[in-house]
Amino acid sequence: MDKNWWKEAFGYQIYLRSFFDGNNDGIGDLPGIIAKLPYLAHLGVNLLWICPFYTSPMDDNGYDVANFYRVAREYGTLKDLRSLIKSAHQLQMKVIIDLVLNHTSDEHPWFKASRKSLNNPYRDYYIWKKPRIIDGQQTEPTNWASFFGGSCWEFDVRTQEYYMKIFSKKMPDLNWENPKVQEEMVQMATWWCEQGIDGFRIDAISHLAKAEFVDSDLFPDHEYKPDWSKYSNLPRLHDYLKLLNKRVFSKYNIVTIGEVGGNAPVSEGIAYTNPKNHELNMVFNFDHNWCNNAWGAQSKKELSTDVQQLKAVFHKWQTGLYGQGWNAIYWLNHDQPRLMSQYGDPEHYHQESAKMLATVLYFMGGTPFIYNGEEIGMTNPEFKSIADFRDVSIINQYEINVKRHHQDEQAFLARAALTSRDNARSLMQWSDQADGGFSLVKPWNIIGDYHKINVAKQINDPQSIFTYYRRIIALRKSDQYRDVLVYGTYEGLWMEHPDLFAYMRSYAHQRLLVIANMTKKTVALPSIPYQQVKIILANYEGRQLSPALLPYEAMLIQIEEED
Ligand code: NOJ
Repeated sequence: MDKNWWKEAFGYQIYLRSFFDGNNDGIGDLPGIIAKLPYLAHLGVNLLWICPFYTSPMDDNGYDVANFYRVAREYGTLKDLRSLIKSAHQLQMKVIIDLVLNHTSDEHPWFKASRKSLNNPYRDYYIWKKPRIIDGQQTEPTNWASFFGGSCWEFDVRTQEYYMKIFSKKMPDLNWENPKVQEEMVQMATWWCEQGIDGFRIDAISHLAKAEFVDSDLFPDHEYKPDWSKYSNLPRLHDYLKLLNKRVFSKYNIVTIGEVGGNAPVSEGIAYTNPKNHELNMVFNFDHNWCNNAWGAQSKKELSTDVQQLKAVFHKWQTGLYGQGWNAIYWLNHDQPRLMSQYGDPEHYHQESAKMLATVLYFMGGTPFIYNGEEIGMTNPEFKSIADFRDVSIINQYEINVKRHHQDEQAFLARAALTSRDNARSLMQWSDQADGGFSLVKPWNIIGDYHKINVAKQINDPQSIFTYYRRIIALRKSDQYRDVLVYGTYEGLWMEHPDLFAYMRSYAHQRLLVIANMTKKTVALPSIPYQQVKIILANYEGRQLSPALLPYEAMLIQIEEED
Protein backbone atom coordinates (compact mmCIF):
# COMPACT_ATOMS: atom_id res chain seq x y z
CA MET A 1 0.00 0.00 0.00
CA ASP A 2 1.33 3.45 -0.87
CA LYS A 3 2.27 5.67 2.04
CA ASN A 4 0.88 9.22 1.96
CA TRP A 5 0.90 12.18 4.31
CA TRP A 6 -2.88 12.27 4.39
CA LYS A 7 -3.09 8.66 5.49
CA GLU A 8 -0.88 9.46 8.46
CA ALA A 9 -2.59 12.71 9.44
CA PHE A 10 -4.95 13.16 12.39
CA GLY A 11 -7.91 15.35 11.46
CA TYR A 12 -10.08 17.77 13.39
CA GLN A 13 -13.33 19.26 12.08
CA ILE A 14 -14.14 22.85 13.00
CA TYR A 15 -17.70 24.05 12.74
CA LEU A 16 -16.62 27.63 12.26
CA ARG A 17 -19.78 29.38 13.44
CA SER A 18 -19.73 27.59 16.79
CA PHE A 19 -16.02 27.30 17.50
CA PHE A 20 -14.75 30.59 18.90
CA ASP A 21 -15.80 34.20 18.47
CA GLY A 22 -12.68 36.24 17.79
CA ASN A 23 -14.32 39.66 17.39
CA ASN A 24 -17.18 39.42 19.89
CA ASP A 25 -20.16 39.69 17.62
CA GLY A 26 -21.63 36.42 18.89
CA ILE A 27 -20.54 34.36 15.87
CA GLY A 28 -17.53 32.07 15.53
CA ASP A 29 -15.01 33.28 12.94
CA LEU A 30 -11.61 32.82 11.31
CA PRO A 31 -9.74 35.03 13.83
CA GLY A 32 -11.36 32.82 16.47
CA ILE A 33 -9.75 29.76 14.92
CA ILE A 34 -6.39 31.53 14.71
CA ALA A 35 -6.63 32.27 18.42
CA LYS A 36 -7.19 28.60 19.13
CA LEU A 37 -4.46 27.15 16.91
CA PRO A 38 -2.11 26.65 19.89
CA TYR A 39 -4.89 24.66 21.56
CA LEU A 40 -5.23 22.43 18.50
CA ALA A 41 -1.47 22.00 18.23
CA HIS A 42 -1.38 21.01 21.89
CA LEU A 43 -4.07 18.41 21.25
CA GLY A 44 -1.82 17.08 18.50
CA VAL A 45 -4.12 17.11 15.48
CA ASN A 46 -2.49 18.12 12.21
CA LEU A 47 -5.25 18.30 9.58
CA LEU A 48 -7.94 20.91 10.15
CA TRP A 49 -11.19 20.82 8.19
CA ILE A 50 -12.95 24.17 8.32
CA CYS A 51 -16.66 24.25 7.48
CA PRO A 52 -17.78 26.84 4.88
CA PHE A 53 -16.82 30.46 5.38
CA TYR A 54 -18.00 31.75 1.99
CA THR A 55 -20.29 34.73 1.45
CA SER A 56 -23.75 33.39 2.04
CA PRO A 57 -27.23 34.35 3.24
CA MET A 58 -26.66 31.55 5.82
CA ASP A 59 -29.84 29.68 5.15
CA ASP A 60 -27.82 26.52 5.82
CA ASN A 61 -24.99 28.18 7.76
CA GLY A 62 -22.83 28.73 4.71
CA TYR A 63 -23.44 25.56 2.69
CA ASP A 64 -25.57 27.92 0.61
CA VAL A 65 -22.79 29.80 -1.15
CA ALA A 66 -23.47 33.17 -2.79
CA ASN A 67 -19.85 33.87 -3.75
CA PHE A 68 -17.26 31.10 -3.95
CA TYR A 69 -14.36 33.55 -3.98
CA ARG A 70 -15.16 35.62 -0.90
CA VAL A 71 -15.23 35.14 2.85
CA ALA A 72 -18.50 36.10 4.59
CA ARG A 73 -17.97 39.31 6.49
CA GLU A 74 -19.15 37.79 9.74
CA TYR A 75 -16.40 35.17 9.46
CA GLY A 76 -13.55 37.56 8.61
CA THR A 77 -11.63 38.25 5.44
CA LEU A 78 -9.52 36.49 2.87
CA LYS A 79 -6.55 37.98 4.64
CA ASP A 80 -7.62 36.24 7.84
CA LEU A 81 -7.87 32.98 5.97
CA ARG A 82 -4.40 33.40 4.53
CA SER A 83 -2.98 34.17 7.93
CA LEU A 84 -4.81 31.17 9.38
CA ILE A 85 -3.23 28.92 6.77
CA LYS A 86 0.20 30.42 7.38
CA SER A 87 -0.01 30.10 11.17
CA ALA A 88 -1.38 26.56 10.93
CA HIS A 89 1.48 25.58 8.63
CA GLN A 90 3.99 27.02 11.08
CA LEU A 91 2.48 24.70 13.68
CA GLN A 92 2.74 21.72 11.26
CA MET A 93 -1.01 21.63 10.67
CA LYS A 94 -2.61 21.41 7.26
CA VAL A 95 -5.87 23.13 6.40
CA ILE A 96 -8.66 21.79 4.23
CA ILE A 97 -11.83 23.61 3.32
CA ASP A 98 -15.33 22.65 2.29
CA LEU A 99 -15.86 22.60 -1.45
CA VAL A 100 -19.56 22.91 -2.25
CA LEU A 101 -20.20 21.66 -5.76
CA ASN A 102 -23.75 20.37 -5.78
CA HIS A 103 -25.61 23.65 -5.35
CA THR A 104 -25.31 27.36 -4.78
CA SER A 105 -27.39 29.81 -2.82
CA ASP A 106 -30.43 31.22 -4.62
CA GLU A 107 -28.68 34.55 -4.01
CA HIS A 108 -25.69 33.54 -6.14
CA PRO A 109 -25.52 35.76 -9.26
CA TRP A 110 -25.79 32.67 -11.49
CA PHE A 111 -29.13 31.72 -9.99
CA LYS A 112 -30.41 35.28 -9.94
CA ALA A 113 -29.74 35.41 -13.68
CA SER A 114 -30.98 31.87 -14.29
CA ARG A 115 -34.41 32.51 -12.85
CA LYS A 116 -34.93 35.70 -14.89
CA SER A 117 -36.09 34.12 -18.13
CA LEU A 118 -36.26 30.86 -20.03
CA ASN A 119 -33.51 31.93 -22.39
CA ASN A 120 -31.13 33.59 -19.97
CA PRO A 121 -27.52 32.40 -20.60
CA TYR A 122 -27.41 31.08 -17.02
CA ARG A 123 -30.71 29.17 -17.33
CA ASP A 124 -28.90 25.85 -17.88
CA TYR A 125 -26.62 26.31 -14.91
CA TYR A 126 -29.48 24.86 -12.85
CA ILE A 127 -32.07 22.12 -13.31
CA TRP A 128 -35.38 23.55 -14.48
CA LYS A 129 -38.43 21.51 -15.44
CA LYS A 130 -41.97 22.25 -16.52
CA PRO A 131 -44.84 21.39 -14.15
CA ARG A 132 -46.87 18.26 -14.81
CA ILE A 133 -50.64 18.29 -14.78
CA ILE A 134 -51.99 15.24 -12.96
CA ASP A 135 -55.76 14.93 -12.43
CA GLY A 136 -56.08 18.55 -13.40
CA GLN A 137 -53.61 19.61 -10.68
CA GLN A 138 -50.28 21.28 -11.22
CA THR A 139 -47.67 18.83 -9.89
CA GLU A 140 -43.91 18.73 -9.42
CA PRO A 141 -41.82 17.21 -12.25
CA THR A 142 -41.17 14.09 -10.11
CA ASN A 143 -42.36 12.79 -6.74
CA TRP A 144 -38.88 12.81 -5.20
CA ALA A 145 -38.34 14.17 -1.69
CA SER A 146 -35.79 16.70 -0.50
CA PHE A 147 -33.38 15.83 2.34
CA PHE A 148 -34.76 18.76 4.31
CA GLY A 149 -38.46 17.86 4.04
CA GLY A 150 -41.06 18.27 1.30
CA SER A 151 -40.43 18.01 -2.43
CA CYS A 152 -37.03 18.37 -4.10
CA TRP A 153 -38.66 20.85 -6.53
CA GLU A 154 -39.56 24.48 -5.95
CA PHE A 155 -41.95 26.36 -8.22
CA ASP A 156 -40.71 29.71 -9.49
CA VAL A 157 -43.52 32.06 -10.43
CA ARG A 158 -41.63 34.28 -12.85
CA THR A 159 -40.93 31.60 -15.48
CA GLN A 160 -43.62 29.14 -14.33
CA GLU A 161 -41.14 26.27 -13.97
CA TYR A 162 -39.73 24.25 -11.10
CA TYR A 163 -36.06 24.20 -10.12
CA MET A 164 -34.47 21.26 -8.38
CA LYS A 165 -33.24 21.61 -4.79
CA ILE A 166 -32.42 18.49 -2.85
CA PHE A 167 -31.63 20.55 0.27
CA SER A 168 -33.42 23.83 1.10
CA LYS A 169 -35.35 25.95 -1.40
CA LYS A 170 -32.59 28.52 -1.10
CA MET A 171 -30.06 25.94 -2.37
CA PRO A 172 -30.81 25.23 -6.05
CA ASP A 173 -28.92 22.25 -7.50
CA LEU A 174 -26.40 22.96 -10.21
CA ASN A 175 -26.71 21.26 -13.57
CA TRP A 176 -23.49 19.28 -13.89
CA GLU A 177 -24.46 18.16 -17.37
CA ASN A 178 -23.62 21.68 -18.47
CA PRO A 179 -19.90 21.95 -19.44
CA LYS A 180 -19.96 25.61 -18.41
CA VAL A 181 -20.81 24.61 -14.85
CA GLN A 182 -17.99 22.08 -14.88
CA GLU A 183 -15.58 24.73 -16.13
CA GLU A 184 -16.66 27.25 -13.48
CA MET A 185 -16.02 24.67 -10.77
CA VAL A 186 -12.62 23.71 -12.18
CA GLN A 187 -11.64 27.39 -12.13
CA MET A 188 -12.93 27.90 -8.62
CA ALA A 189 -11.25 24.82 -7.13
CA THR A 190 -8.00 25.78 -8.86
CA TRP A 191 -8.20 29.26 -7.42
CA TRP A 192 -8.51 27.84 -3.91
CA CYS A 193 -5.56 25.54 -4.42
CA GLU A 194 -3.56 28.59 -5.46
CA GLN A 195 -4.46 30.22 -2.12
CA GLY A 196 -2.38 27.54 -0.41
CA ILE A 197 -5.05 25.29 1.05
CA ASP A 198 -4.11 21.64 1.58
CA GLY A 199 -7.24 20.04 0.26
CA PHE A 200 -10.98 19.80 0.21
CA ARG A 201 -13.77 18.09 2.03
CA ILE A 202 -16.17 17.91 -0.84
CA ASP A 203 -19.73 18.48 0.22
CA ALA A 204 -22.61 16.26 -0.95
CA ILE A 205 -20.40 14.90 -3.72
CA SER A 206 -22.50 11.80 -4.29
CA HIS A 207 -25.42 13.89 -5.55
CA LEU A 208 -23.91 15.70 -8.54
CA ALA A 209 -25.48 13.34 -11.08
CA LYS A 210 -29.25 12.88 -11.20
CA ALA A 211 -31.28 9.94 -12.53
CA GLU A 212 -33.78 10.16 -15.34
CA PHE A 213 -36.60 12.38 -14.15
CA VAL A 214 -39.29 9.76 -13.62
CA ASP A 215 -41.32 9.07 -10.46
CA SER A 216 -40.07 6.71 -7.81
CA ASP A 217 -42.20 3.64 -7.09
CA LEU A 218 -40.88 3.30 -3.56
CA PHE A 219 -42.36 4.57 -0.27
CA PRO A 220 -46.09 4.34 -1.15
CA ASP A 221 -47.06 6.03 2.14
CA HIS A 222 -44.98 9.15 1.57
CA GLU A 223 -46.25 12.19 -0.28
CA TYR A 224 -42.71 12.83 -1.54
CA LYS A 225 -40.53 9.72 -1.85
CA PRO A 226 -37.24 9.69 0.07
CA ASP A 227 -35.72 7.53 -2.66
CA TRP A 228 -32.20 8.90 -2.50
CA SER A 229 -31.06 6.56 -5.27
CA LYS A 230 -32.56 9.06 -7.70
CA TYR A 231 -29.73 11.42 -7.02
CA SER A 232 -26.98 9.49 -5.26
CA ASN A 233 -23.85 7.70 -6.48
CA LEU A 234 -24.91 7.55 -10.12
CA PRO A 235 -22.40 6.54 -12.81
CA ARG A 236 -22.13 9.94 -14.49
CA LEU A 237 -20.77 11.39 -11.29
CA HIS A 238 -17.55 9.47 -11.78
CA ASP A 239 -16.95 11.34 -15.04
CA TYR A 240 -17.27 14.65 -13.20
CA LEU A 241 -14.82 13.51 -10.54
CA LYS A 242 -12.31 12.29 -13.10
CA LEU A 243 -12.51 15.67 -14.76
CA LEU A 244 -11.93 17.52 -11.48
CA ASN A 245 -9.08 15.17 -10.65
CA LYS A 246 -7.39 15.65 -14.01
CA ARG A 247 -7.81 19.39 -14.19
CA VAL A 248 -7.31 20.30 -10.52
CA PHE A 249 -6.69 17.71 -7.80
CA SER A 250 -3.81 15.91 -9.50
CA LYS A 251 -1.92 19.16 -9.99
CA TYR A 252 -1.46 19.90 -6.29
CA ASN A 253 -0.21 18.05 -3.23
CA ILE A 254 -3.64 18.12 -1.68
CA VAL A 255 -6.07 15.68 -0.13
CA THR A 256 -9.63 15.27 -1.39
CA ILE A 257 -12.32 13.79 0.82
CA GLY A 258 -15.77 13.17 -0.57
CA GLU A 259 -18.90 13.12 1.52
CA VAL A 260 -20.70 10.11 0.04
CA GLY A 261 -23.41 9.56 2.61
CA GLY A 262 -25.28 6.50 3.69
CA ASN A 263 -26.21 5.01 0.36
CA ALA A 264 -22.78 4.23 -0.95
CA PRO A 265 -21.78 0.58 -0.68
CA VAL A 266 -18.13 -0.35 -0.12
CA SER A 267 -17.75 -1.05 -3.84
CA GLU A 268 -18.64 2.61 -4.47
CA GLY A 269 -16.16 3.63 -1.79
CA ILE A 270 -13.52 1.78 -3.79
CA ALA A 271 -14.67 3.32 -7.06
CA TYR A 272 -14.28 6.80 -5.56
CA THR A 273 -10.92 6.26 -3.89
CA ASN A 274 -8.92 3.58 -5.66
CA PRO A 275 -5.84 5.47 -6.90
CA LYS A 276 -6.19 3.83 -10.31
CA ASN A 277 -9.54 5.56 -10.80
CA HIS A 278 -8.13 9.07 -10.39
CA GLU A 279 -11.07 10.52 -8.49
CA LEU A 280 -10.77 11.17 -4.74
CA ASN A 281 -8.38 10.21 -1.95
CA MET A 282 -10.97 9.15 0.60
CA VAL A 283 -14.63 9.21 1.53
CA PHE A 284 -16.82 9.88 4.53
CA ASN A 285 -19.64 7.33 4.69
CA PHE A 286 -22.51 7.48 7.19
CA ASP A 287 -23.20 3.82 7.87
CA HIS A 288 -22.27 3.91 11.56
CA ASN A 289 -24.09 7.17 12.34
CA TRP A 290 -27.43 5.94 13.63
CA CYS A 291 -26.82 2.51 15.16
CA ASN A 292 -28.79 3.35 18.30
CA ASN A 293 -32.48 3.66 17.45
CA ALA A 294 -32.38 7.47 17.55
CA TRP A 295 -34.91 7.77 14.73
CA GLY A 296 -37.32 5.28 16.30
CA ALA A 297 -36.97 6.59 19.84
CA GLN A 298 -39.44 8.97 21.44
CA SER A 299 -37.10 9.92 24.27
CA LYS A 300 -33.50 9.64 25.43
CA LYS A 301 -34.33 6.55 27.47
CA GLU A 302 -35.10 4.58 24.34
CA LEU A 303 -31.64 5.08 22.84
CA SER A 304 -29.53 1.96 22.94
CA THR A 305 -26.32 1.25 21.07
CA ASP A 306 -26.50 -1.69 18.72
CA VAL A 307 -23.00 -3.04 19.27
CA GLN A 308 -23.34 -5.86 16.77
CA GLN A 309 -24.50 -3.50 14.06
CA LEU A 310 -21.66 -1.08 14.76
CA LYS A 311 -19.12 -3.89 14.58
CA ALA A 312 -20.61 -5.21 11.36
CA VAL A 313 -20.55 -1.80 9.70
CA PHE A 314 -16.99 -0.98 10.69
CA HIS A 315 -15.76 -4.47 9.81
CA LYS A 316 -17.36 -4.20 6.38
CA TRP A 317 -15.70 -0.88 5.55
CA GLN A 318 -12.36 -1.61 7.22
CA THR A 319 -11.83 -4.93 5.48
CA GLY A 320 -13.62 -4.03 2.25
CA LEU A 321 -11.49 -0.97 1.53
CA TYR A 322 -8.21 -2.45 2.70
CA GLY A 323 -5.59 -2.13 -0.03
CA GLN A 324 -8.19 -0.89 -2.49
CA GLY A 325 -9.37 2.46 -1.25
CA TRP A 326 -9.33 4.70 1.77
CA ASN A 327 -11.80 6.30 4.12
CA ALA A 328 -11.92 8.90 6.81
CA ILE A 329 -12.87 7.50 10.21
CA TYR A 330 -15.00 9.66 12.44
CA TRP A 331 -17.80 9.13 14.90
CA LEU A 332 -20.13 11.99 14.08
CA ASN A 333 -20.00 15.44 12.50
CA HIS A 334 -21.96 18.71 12.33
CA ASP A 335 -24.96 16.90 10.86
CA GLN A 336 -25.67 14.60 13.79
CA PRO A 337 -26.20 14.78 17.54
CA ARG A 338 -23.16 14.82 19.83
CA LEU A 339 -21.27 11.55 20.16
CA MET A 340 -21.67 11.31 23.93
CA SER A 341 -25.44 11.70 23.73
CA GLN A 342 -25.60 9.18 20.92
CA TYR A 343 -23.29 6.35 21.99
CA GLY A 344 -21.93 7.40 25.38
CA ASP A 345 -23.29 7.51 28.92
CA PRO A 346 -22.71 11.11 29.98
CA GLU A 347 -24.86 10.91 33.09
CA HIS A 348 -23.29 7.91 34.78
CA TYR A 349 -19.92 7.30 33.13
CA HIS A 350 -18.92 10.47 31.38
CA GLN A 351 -15.15 9.97 31.35
CA GLU A 352 -15.16 6.21 30.97
CA SER A 353 -17.60 6.09 28.08
CA ALA A 354 -15.98 9.03 26.24
CA LYS A 355 -12.56 7.39 26.47
CA MET A 356 -14.00 4.02 25.48
CA LEU A 357 -15.53 5.51 22.33
CA ALA A 358 -12.25 7.13 21.40
CA THR A 359 -10.41 3.83 21.95
CA VAL A 360 -12.86 1.93 19.77
CA LEU A 361 -12.60 4.30 16.81
CA TYR A 362 -9.18 5.86 16.65
CA PHE A 363 -7.12 2.70 16.33
CA MET A 364 -8.94 1.65 13.16
CA GLY A 365 -7.57 2.11 9.65
CA GLY A 366 -8.34 5.34 7.78
CA THR A 367 -7.70 9.01 8.47
CA PRO A 368 -9.29 9.98 11.80
CA PHE A 369 -11.37 13.12 12.29
CA ILE A 370 -12.41 14.45 15.68
CA TYR A 371 -15.48 16.69 15.64
CA ASN A 372 -14.87 19.82 17.70
CA GLY A 373 -15.93 19.31 21.31
CA GLU A 374 -15.69 15.54 21.16
CA GLU A 375 -12.23 15.73 22.75
CA ILE A 376 -13.82 16.98 25.99
CA GLY A 377 -16.90 14.77 25.80
CA MET A 378 -19.44 17.47 24.94
CA THR A 379 -23.10 16.46 25.05
CA ASN A 380 -26.34 17.60 23.38
CA PRO A 381 -27.75 20.89 24.70
CA GLU A 382 -31.25 21.11 26.13
CA PHE A 383 -33.87 22.43 23.70
CA LYS A 384 -36.92 23.97 25.35
CA SER A 385 -38.98 25.03 22.34
CA ILE A 386 -38.78 25.41 18.56
CA ALA A 387 -37.20 28.82 19.19
CA ASP A 388 -34.05 27.02 20.38
CA PHE A 389 -33.53 25.39 16.98
CA ARG A 390 -31.61 27.11 14.20
CA ASP A 391 -31.29 24.37 11.59
CA VAL A 392 -33.22 25.02 8.38
CA SER A 393 -33.97 21.31 8.11
CA ILE A 394 -35.76 21.15 11.48
CA ILE A 395 -37.54 24.44 10.85
CA ASN A 396 -38.83 23.17 7.47
CA GLN A 397 -39.97 19.91 8.98
CA TYR A 398 -41.69 21.78 11.83
CA GLU A 399 -43.58 23.90 9.29
CA ILE A 400 -44.67 20.83 7.34
CA ASN A 401 -45.36 18.34 10.16
CA VAL A 402 -46.58 20.50 13.03
CA LYS A 403 -48.03 23.58 11.36
CA ARG A 404 -49.43 21.99 8.21
CA HIS A 405 -50.14 18.38 9.21
CA HIS A 406 -50.84 19.06 12.93
CA GLN A 407 -48.39 16.52 14.31
CA ASP A 408 -48.18 16.73 18.12
CA GLU A 409 -45.69 19.52 18.84
CA GLN A 410 -44.17 17.97 21.97
CA ALA A 411 -43.59 14.67 20.21
CA PHE A 412 -41.99 16.49 17.27
CA LEU A 413 -39.70 18.49 19.56
CA ALA A 414 -38.72 15.43 21.59
CA ARG A 415 -37.60 13.63 18.47
CA ALA A 416 -35.94 16.73 17.06
CA ALA A 417 -33.92 17.01 20.27
CA LEU A 418 -32.63 13.48 19.72
CA THR A 419 -31.79 13.78 16.06
CA SER A 420 -31.30 17.45 15.21
CA ARG A 421 -28.13 18.78 13.62
CA ASP A 422 -28.36 21.68 16.06
CA ASN A 423 -26.97 19.38 18.73
CA ALA A 424 -23.58 19.33 17.09
CA ARG A 425 -23.74 23.03 16.34
CA SER A 426 -24.05 24.00 19.99
CA LEU A 427 -21.21 26.30 21.00
CA MET A 428 -17.76 25.00 21.87
CA GLN A 429 -17.40 24.90 25.66
CA TRP A 430 -14.11 26.59 26.42
CA SER A 431 -14.57 27.42 30.11
CA ASP A 432 -17.18 27.89 32.82
CA GLN A 433 -17.36 31.63 32.11
CA ALA A 434 -20.59 33.06 30.65
CA ASP A 435 -21.58 31.25 27.43
CA GLY A 436 -18.75 28.82 27.92
CA GLY A 437 -16.17 31.48 27.10
CA PHE A 438 -17.27 31.34 23.45
CA SER A 439 -17.99 35.07 23.17
CA LEU A 440 -18.33 38.16 25.31
CA VAL A 441 -21.71 39.00 23.79
CA LYS A 442 -24.93 37.05 23.36
CA PRO A 443 -24.06 34.19 21.00
CA TRP A 444 -26.02 33.06 17.98
CA ASN A 445 -26.77 29.60 19.31
CA ILE A 446 -27.53 27.40 22.27
CA ILE A 447 -24.82 25.74 24.42
CA GLY A 448 -24.59 22.51 26.44
CA ASP A 449 -23.61 22.05 30.07
CA TYR A 450 -20.43 24.12 30.05
CA HIS A 451 -20.21 24.37 33.83
CA LYS A 452 -19.55 20.66 33.96
CA ILE A 453 -17.76 20.07 30.67
CA ASN A 454 -15.21 22.57 29.40
CA VAL A 455 -11.71 22.83 27.99
CA ALA A 456 -10.27 24.86 30.88
CA LYS A 457 -11.22 22.15 33.33
CA GLN A 458 -9.67 19.35 31.32
CA ILE A 459 -6.64 20.73 29.57
CA ASN A 460 -4.18 20.24 32.43
CA ASP A 461 -5.87 17.28 34.10
CA PRO A 462 -3.92 14.07 33.47
CA GLN A 463 -7.10 12.00 33.91
CA SER A 464 -9.30 14.04 31.58
CA ILE A 465 -10.90 13.00 28.34
CA PHE A 466 -8.83 15.70 26.62
CA THR A 467 -5.57 14.20 27.91
CA TYR A 468 -6.70 10.75 26.82
CA TYR A 469 -7.33 12.07 23.30
CA ARG A 470 -3.85 13.59 23.32
CA ARG A 471 -2.39 10.22 24.19
CA ILE A 472 -4.30 8.49 21.40
CA ILE A 473 -3.15 11.06 18.86
CA ALA A 474 0.44 10.78 20.05
CA LEU A 475 0.31 6.97 19.77
CA ARG A 476 -1.06 7.16 16.27
CA LYS A 477 1.69 9.53 15.20
CA SER A 478 4.51 7.71 17.05
CA ASP A 479 7.31 5.95 15.17
CA GLN A 480 6.55 2.83 17.16
CA TYR A 481 2.90 2.41 16.25
CA ARG A 482 2.27 4.56 13.18
CA ASP A 483 2.71 1.81 10.61
CA VAL A 484 0.51 -0.74 12.29
CA LEU A 485 -2.19 1.81 13.10
CA VAL A 486 -2.19 3.47 9.71
CA TYR A 487 -1.29 0.68 7.31
CA GLY A 488 -2.15 -2.47 9.24
CA THR A 489 -4.93 -4.92 8.41
CA TYR A 490 -8.15 -4.96 10.43
CA GLU A 491 -9.89 -8.01 11.73
CA GLY A 492 -13.17 -7.65 13.61
CA LEU A 493 -13.42 -10.04 16.59
CA TRP A 494 -16.27 -11.34 18.73
CA MET A 495 -18.67 -10.17 16.05
CA GLU A 496 -21.73 -11.82 17.62
CA HIS A 497 -21.06 -10.57 21.13
CA PRO A 498 -23.84 -8.13 22.12
CA ASP A 499 -21.71 -5.91 24.39
CA LEU A 500 -18.04 -6.06 23.48
CA PHE A 501 -16.27 -4.37 20.59
CA ALA A 502 -12.94 -5.89 19.62
CA TYR A 503 -10.57 -5.94 16.70
CA MET A 504 -6.99 -6.72 15.78
CA ARG A 505 -4.64 -4.57 13.72
CA SER A 506 -1.61 -6.31 12.19
CA TYR A 507 1.37 -5.11 10.20
CA ALA A 508 4.63 -6.98 9.62
CA HIS A 509 5.33 -8.57 13.04
CA GLN A 510 3.27 -6.15 15.04
CA ARG A 511 -0.19 -6.90 16.37
CA LEU A 512 -2.44 -4.60 18.36
CA LEU A 513 -5.69 -5.64 19.93
CA VAL A 514 -8.49 -3.26 20.90
CA ILE A 515 -11.09 -4.51 23.37
CA ALA A 516 -13.97 -2.48 24.73
CA ASN A 517 -17.10 -2.93 26.74
CA MET A 518 -19.73 -0.65 25.18
CA THR A 519 -22.22 -1.06 28.05
CA LYS A 520 -22.64 0.02 31.64
CA LYS A 521 -22.58 -3.60 32.86
CA THR A 522 -19.51 -5.52 33.90
CA VAL A 523 -19.02 -8.06 31.12
CA ALA A 524 -17.05 -11.32 31.20
CA LEU A 525 -14.16 -11.30 28.78
CA PRO A 526 -13.84 -14.13 26.24
CA SER A 527 -10.45 -15.80 26.53
CA ILE A 528 -7.61 -14.04 24.79
CA PRO A 529 -5.37 -16.74 23.36
CA TYR A 530 -2.06 -14.96 23.84
CA GLN A 531 0.44 -15.51 26.62
CA GLN A 532 2.28 -12.25 26.43
CA VAL A 533 0.38 -9.05 26.23
CA LYS A 534 1.26 -5.50 27.06
CA ILE A 535 -1.38 -2.88 27.79
CA ILE A 536 -0.49 0.29 25.93
CA LEU A 537 -3.51 2.37 26.82
CA ALA A 538 -6.44 1.82 29.16
CA ASN A 539 -9.31 4.03 30.21
CA TYR A 540 -9.22 2.75 33.80
CA GLU A 541 -5.83 3.77 35.12
CA GLY A 542 -3.52 0.91 36.11
CA ARG A 543 -5.90 -1.92 35.19
CA GLN A 544 -4.53 -5.23 33.98
CA LEU A 545 -6.33 -7.81 31.88
CA SER A 546 -8.93 -9.39 34.14
CA PRO A 547 -11.67 -11.98 33.63
CA ALA A 548 -14.24 -9.22 33.14
CA LEU A 549 -14.35 -5.71 31.70
CA LEU A 550 -15.73 -2.96 33.92
CA PRO A 551 -18.47 -0.61 32.63
CA TYR A 552 -17.22 1.03 29.42
CA GLU A 553 -13.73 -0.32 30.00
CA ALA A 554 -11.48 -0.24 26.94
CA MET A 555 -7.85 -1.07 26.20
CA LEU A 556 -5.27 -1.05 23.48
CA ILE A 557 -3.09 -4.11 23.90
CA GLN A 558 0.09 -5.14 22.17
CA ILE A 559 0.47 -8.83 21.48
CA GLU A 560 4.11 -9.61 22.18
CA GLU A 561 5.95 -12.08 20.01
CA GLU A 562 6.46 -15.44 21.74
CA ASP A 563 10.15 -16.29 22.14
C1 NOJ B 1 -23.78 18.12 3.73
C2 NOJ B 1 -23.37 19.04 4.83
O1 NOJ B 1 -22.60 18.30 5.74
C3 NOJ B 1 -24.62 19.61 5.44
O2 NOJ B 1 -24.36 20.32 6.62
C4 NOJ B 1 -25.29 20.47 4.40
O3 NOJ B 1 -26.53 20.91 4.90
C5 NOJ B 1 -25.53 19.70 3.12
N1 NOJ B 1 -24.41 18.91 2.71
C6 NOJ B 1 -25.86 20.65 1.99
O4 NOJ B 1 -24.74 21.39 1.63
